[in-house]
Amino acid sequence: MAQPLKIRRLAGALGAEISGVDLSQDLPDETIAAIRRALVEHQVIFFRDQDLTPARQTAFGARFGPLNIHPYVAGMADHPEVMEIVKEPEDRINFGGGWHSDMSFLQTPAIGSILYAVQVPEFGGDTLFASQAAAYDALSPGLKATLETLSAVHSASREYSAQGHSAQKRKGMSVAEADGYVGEYVHPVVLTHPETGRKALYVNPAFTLRIDGWKTSESKALLDYLFNHCRYEGFTCRFTWAAGSVAFWDNRSVWHFALNDYPGQRRHMRRVTVDPWPAMAEQAREVELARAG
Ligand code: SIN
Repeated sequence: MAQPLKIRRLAGALGAEISGVDLSQDLPDETIAAIRRALVEHQVIFFRDQDLTPARQTAFGARFGPLNIHPYVAGMADHPEVMEIVKEPEDRINFGGGWHSDMSFLQTPAIGSILYAVQVPEFGGDTLFASQAAAYDALSPGLKATLETLSAVHSASREYSAQGHSAQKRKGMSVAEADGYVGEYVHPVVLTHPETGRKALYVNPAFTLRIDGWKTSESKALLDYLFNHCRYEGFTCRFTWAAGSVAFWDNRSVWHFALNDYPGQRRHMRRVTVDPWPAMAEQAREVELARAG
């Protein structure tokens, strides 16, 4: 019989550390279901002292949905779903060093990301997380009602267009052979979580370009207001890594930010990114289409 998970909350808005589970094992369905419940409830969950090869990390991630192959960042040669996120001692900029929600620039954004620490710096290199559900809850009824009528345009163009690609290379990331086209996709500004029904803001500074139907200049004041509001410290938690730590976050309600405060040291992480099951993606698209009228 599966052991119950031990769950310890880390902060008021989001985050919990889970112990009593070895993610390298072929876990029973009820343990996977309990991890999924913990993920959607706490929005980001953490595990310590894990030992995950790329194959084991892939096997664990695939229990939650099909794994994403990043369109612009090359995965490992023998595990294309696994992205190596490495900052070498001589690198100056880091991958993920700004508030964002993974893959919001796709038509069907990823539901979650699972990051495993292979090697961490002696100090620094923490990751910050911010609950976009808490950010939504804190808004006035008037602004909530207005935002519910809006959608926003997301794109990877700033990060992964020809210009963005060179920035990725400067971050030490190997760039995938993309087709050169970085598309734009529209998502509601307020996302209703398909599993909990809880609402969250779904715009982010890295990938949201503008409010749909508005000019970029018109969108700026509202987006700047939201981006500033969404990172208020009361909505955040902070995770200090050790080798073998794992973070699993829900991209539908969480922003994250990899801190770049460990000059001269090496940090090596591996990430798999979980897409929605096709039925869930279909449902989300129908809701989006209905909203768009
Ligand atoms: C990411 O943005 O996926 C990377 C986060 C991190 O390295 O802490």
